[in-house]
Amino acid sequence: MPIVRVDPFDPQPEAIAHAANLLRQGRLVAFPTETVYGLGANALDTNAVEQIFSVKGRPSYNPLIVHVADAEAARRLVSHWPEHAQRLAAAFWPGPLTLVLPKRPEVSDLITAGLPSVAVRVPAHRVALALLRTADLPVAAPSANRFTQLSPTTAQHVEKALGSQIDLIIDGGPTTVGIESTVVDVAGARPVLLRPGLLSIDDLASIVGEIEVPSQHLVEETPRPSPGMLHRHYAPRGELHIFAPQHRDGAALLARQAVEAQRTVGALLLSPLDAPIQHPIVMPDEPAAYARMLYAGLHSLDDLGCDVILVEQVPSTSAWVGVRDRLQRASQ
Ligand code: TXA
Ligand code: MG
Repeated sequence: MPIVRVDPFDPQPEAIAHAANLLRQGRLVAFPTETVYGLGANALDTNAVEQIFSVKGRPSYNPLIVHVADAEAARRLVSHWPEHAQRLAAAFWPGPLTLVLPKRPEVSDLITAGLPSVAVRVPAHRVALALLRTADLPVAAPSANRFTQLSPTTAQHVEKALGSQIDLIIDGGPTTVGIESTVVDVAGARPVLLRPGLLSIDDLASIVGEIEVPSQHLVEETPRPSPGMLHRHYAPRGELHIFAPQHRDGAALLARQAVEAQRTVGALLLSPLDAPIQHPIVMPDEPAAYARMLYAGLHSLDDLGCDVILVEQVPSTSAWVGVRDRLQRASQ
C-alpha cells in the first residue's frame, strides 16, 4: 500500500498533484484533516463514491460529508445558503464544523443516503486544503476506518484498518483535533446539533444565538435525524467500561477480577489508579488535549491486546460534550 509522507504545514506539490490525479481518475485517497483521517473520493463520480461504501463496509443509509476548499465551493452544492450557514462558516471555516443544508440535484443520492440535504465542510488542514484546491473537486470523505470501528488519527491507523484496499494514503502526521467534526443542521429556522464535537454548544450559540440539542446525543441515538449516528460506533475491540470518578474503588476491583481471569486490562484515567492495570494511560484533564489523544490511546490499547478498557468518566460541562459522546458510543 503506497503511503506518501508530506510536510503537514507545507505539503510537497508533486505528492499533492499525484493524489489529486488519482481522485480525478475515480480512485480512493486517504488524507489527513485536522479532526481525523478521511477516505476521499471524487464526490461527482458515483462509482468512486460506491467504492467508499464497499471499502468501509458502510451501509448505504449512512450519508457522507463532502469536503470543499472554501465556502464558495460549498455554496455550489446546496440550494439555499441561509444566514445561519453564512455566520457559522464565517466563524469556523476552515475548521472542525460540518453544515447540513438542502442539496442541489447534482449531489447524488448515494452521498446523501437519499436525504434531501447534504453535509459540507472546509477542513482546517494544509494538506487537505492543498488536495481540494489541486483536484478542484468536491471530495466525499468519511473517516478512514471500517464501519463502527475506531476513527484514525494517524496514517498508520488507516493502514492498519484499510491498508490493501485503497490507492494512496497521504501521511501528514497525527491529527490535532482528534475527534470528528461537529455536525449542525442549518436547513431549518433553528440550527440543530446532529453530532457534538470539539466546538462546544456555547461556541456555536455565541454565533447563532440558539441551537437545538436533541437529548439523544448524550444517551441514545435513533437513526434520525442524523442517519450515521448509530448506537455502537468509534469502538475499540476490547470491552469498554466507563466508571464515575467517585467509583474508583469499584474500577480497581473490576481490574483485579479481570486480571485474575487472565484478561488484559487497559485504562484511560484522569489520575493514576492503584490497581493491577497492565496498560494504564493517564489522559490530559483539558478537553482539547484529551480529544487529541483519545483515539490514539484506544488504538494503542487495542494493539496491546486489551480485553477490558476501563475509562474514567470525563466532566459533564459543555466543553466535554464531544469527548463524552465518543466515549459513550465506544462503550456500547
Ligand atoms: O471530522 C469529520 O467529520 C471526518 C473528517 C474526515 O472530515 N469525517 C467524518 O465522516 O466523520 P463520517 O462519514 O464518519 O461521519 C459523517 C457524519 C455522520 O454522523 C452522518 O450521519 C452525518 O455526518 N451526515 C452526513 N450527511 C448528512 C445529512 N445529509 N444529514 C444529516 N447528517 C449527515
Ligand atoms: Mg466515521
